[in-house]
This record gives sequence, structure tokens and C-alpha cells, in this order.
Amino acid sequence: MGYEDAQAGAHMRTAFRNAEKHYKRYTQASSLSKSSRKKVPATDLHQVLDIRKIGAVLGDQKCSVQGVSRFEGPFDWAVYTLDAHPGFYFIPEALSAAQQLHWIVESLTTFPQPPNRTNHNAIYGPLKDLWLAYQEGKVLKEIASSTRHLPSVAESDATQRNIDVDGGVATAKAWQFCDRTEACGQLSKVVPAELLFRKLRWATLGLQFDWSKRAYDESLPYSMLPTDLAQLAARLAEAAVTKGEFKAEAAIVNYYGPDDMLGGHVDDMEADWSKPIVSISLGCKAVFLLGGASREESPTAMFVRSGDVVLMAGPARRCFHGVPRIFVDSNQSEVPDFAALVESQKGSSNLDAVVQYINQSRINVNIRQVH
Ligand code: OGA
Ligand code: MN
Repeated sequence: MGYEDAQAGAHMRTAFRNAEKHYKRYTQASSLSKSSRKKVPATDLHQVLDIRKIGAVLGDQKCSVQGVSRFEGPFDWAVYTLDAHPGFYFIPEALSAAQQLHWIVESLTTFPQPPNRTNHNAIYGPLKDLWLAYQEGKVLKEIASSTRHLPSVAESDATQRNIDVDGGVATAKAWQFCDRTEACGQLSKVVPAELLFRKLRWATLGLQFDWSKRAYDESLPYSMLPTDLAQLAARLAEAAVTKGEFKAEAAIVNYYGPDDMLGGHVDDMEADWSKPIVSISLGCKAVFLLGGASREESPTAMFVRSGDVVLMAGPARRCFHGVPRIFVDSNQSEVPDFAALVESQKGSSNLDAVVQYINQSRINVNIRQVH
């Protein structure tokens, strides 16, 4: 889901929009500029479903509590459904802390690697080893501007390939990571890798999604989803798969900083809506909103924590959903103690930066069958 698209229609006062406004994070500065409120009141969270807690109360009972029911089946996890949202499944604590840490590391180091595309592609082209460059304190430098005559380059094509077209004369820009000292005193543009990493918002794995066309572009180079991720997704999807098998062909990885949110949207680009979207939450706790087929329907708010998995299949595939809030304060974020875990896993050092990142961020890996 594109962030611009996510915002389309967001200005309208719909029930979904009202819920987003209710849960979004207001900082002192933002509230002061918009109104004259001096103190930012705490968000009222008492309507937010806590399915982990409800599940613990439910145990093996068949009845439903607060519209949440246990879904019976031969699964590796306890699976819950919402009476009001057929086709939606919630799997609390599906991933152990060690598994979570593994996918957090992958999300930061390998998932943003070309040919996977990220939100930075449109401006800088493919960026190799962004995490490493950030760890090494490097900067991205514009290294060359060669002028060629490329009359046949269409404008849309040009944006993708990072070429400026000006009256048929194309300027190919190239960017490269280098040491700060190397970039020092040069006139060319430089961008710290740290800033680029902080502004990483999404990466696409497997079949590449083209946000501008709102479609998968199978002509783009891609690498298959990692086998272990595809296998995990197929296993998690089981509760929501009625016929055949779930084939993980693409994934979108969302990276959320303290003030980031994902506006209400529907994921409707995949051919087979009977197949679920498998959505894994990592890092800081968040509020997930699940609405109906229109924005006018009032959404259900629920907490998603690190290790929780959500499945959206069947009718729930047509439902608006979004993430208006993530909780980064350590007393609310409920991020597992990854530092202690790293400590106990001898030999795997160098994860301090990963732990630091995830204690202030949320990562969502959502996996799809495209065909
Ligand atoms: C998406 C999405 C939800 C989340 O990327 O399409 O709905 O939990 N993500 O971040
Ligand atoms: Mn979505």
C-alpha cells in the first residue's frame, strides 16, 4: 500500500478517519501549533482490544469474550477470530523472541538489499549495504553526472531509472557510499547513511510492487522470497487457507519510526483474494485498525505486539485497515528484552545497533500470494 494512496480520502471525516485521529500520536509541538492546548492528554485506549489478554482468559472455552473467539484447528499456535470480521485471524505470540530477533536482523540488513526496492530507489537508485554504511558512519555522495543524449527515454521510465530528462538530454546520476572525510570539502551533494536509514519506510521482497502503477511489475528484476520466510508464512497462513497451499511470492516490509503511521487502505492488487495476507509485527507495540468495506464503517482497534501475526483473508481482504500509532516509550512499547537475548547468544555480538533501532521502531513484514 502506497503512503500517498493511503492518504487518499483521508481528509474526509469518515468513521475510519476519526479513529485514526483518536489514536495518532500528538506531541507537544504538533498540538501547540494546531490548537492552543498546553498539555497533550494521554490517548484513551480502553476501547483497544487486547487479544493476547482475552486469549489468556478464554483458554480452551468455545464462548466468545468481547467478540473474540478461539478458532479450533490443528495449528501450531492458538488462533483467534473476531465475530464482527469474518476472514480475519489473530495469532498472538506466534514467534519466539529469538525468531523475532532473527527477522528484525534480516529486515535491517538483507531485506533492503537490491534487487529488492525501497522508498529510496526513486531518488538514489539501488543502494547496496545501507545498514553497513550506517554502521560505518558513511555518507552517500553524488559521484558523477554524465550527460548523454537519450531521446527515447520516456519520462516515467526516467524516474524509475533515476535519470533526469530535460529536452531529450538525460543526466545520469550516480550515488555511492564513502567515508565522511572523503566527501569533506566537495561540492557534490552528500547524505548521511544514518539519515537514509532513519528514513527507510519500506522494502519490497520477491515480486516487485510498483506503487505508481499500483500493480506488481513482473518485468522488474527480483529475487525469490527467502525459503525460510516463505515456509514460515505458509505455516502461519494455514488457519486461513481453505483450499490449496499458500505460495509466498511477495512481501512488503514497513519500517515505522515514532511518528510514522500507515493510513487506512485496502490491499487489492493480488489476483486471489481467498489467499490471506500474512502480517508479522516486530518491535514496538502498535494500534491496528480493522474497518469494513467502506471508510464509513467504524473500525475495531486492537494492539499488535512483537511476535504477533495477523491474517486477512476472504471478506477481511476487502476491509480498510491501518496503523495509526506505535508506542515507542519503553513503559508502553513492550519490546522483548532483546539485549538480554543477545547477551545469552554467545558469539553473535554486533547486534547492539539492531537492539537500539528496534527499541524505538516497529517493523511489519506482510507476505502475499500474488497469482
Ligand atoms: C500493509 C499493512 C500493516 C501493519 O503494509 O499493507 O497493512 O501492521 N501493514 O504495518
Ligand atoms: Mn495493508
